[in-house]
Amino acid sequence: MTTITLVQGDITRQHADAIVNAANSSLLGGGGVDGAIHRRGGPAILEECRALRASRYGKGLPTGQAVATTAGELDARWVIHTVGPVYSRSEDRSELLASCYRESLRVAGELGARTVAFPAVSTGVYRWPMQDAARIAVETVRSTRTAVEEVRFVLFDDLAYEAFARQT
Ligand code: AR6
Repeated sequence: MTTITLVQGDITRQHADAIVNAANSSLLGGGGVDGAIHRRGGPAILEECRALRASRYGKGLPTGQAVATTAGELDARWVIHTVGPVYSRSEDRSELLASCYRESLRVAGELGARTVAFPAVSTGVYRWPMQDAARIAVETVRSTRTAVEEVRFVLFDDLAYEAFARQT
């Protein structure tokens, strides 16, 4: 049984086996969680991301997929980078957002991670409405079979925390 916990705060301050990054396909950094993880984690993360681009992901990491690197100086063993979908009103991209959580858990399981910290993927720059994103995140984690023991959602502000609290 996987335990779901909620924490309000900065994901880069978490101690966990794996910390999930809300990345973009380039894997080369950006703003939001991505910027914070690279800033605090140091250059080793970007170095591995560059190597991944040069090998497995020449065209970038596709939306909904996940890949792990070192966590550099973060208090974690791995960063799992996943690419959320940009929210669209005209197209239902929920399955891609669910896939981010499923694939991140699959990668975490392969690594042997027991605790995994997730941000609210796609709810910042990618504009996914918070309550809907929280529903998809929690439902997906609940319905995914995984050896991960604790999934911790790390929510940046009150609004995000309350949205996730309503789902748990
Ligand atoms: N800890 C926890 N949550 C955070 C933090 C933090 N340090 N910083 C922001 N959030 P976003 P996305 C929240 O934009 O929507 C980047 O440029 C934030 O309030 O980080 O998936 C990437 O390179 C929001 O609720 O990710 C991509 O280009 C949530 O984390 C793009 O943004 C996600 O916001 C990805 O956009």
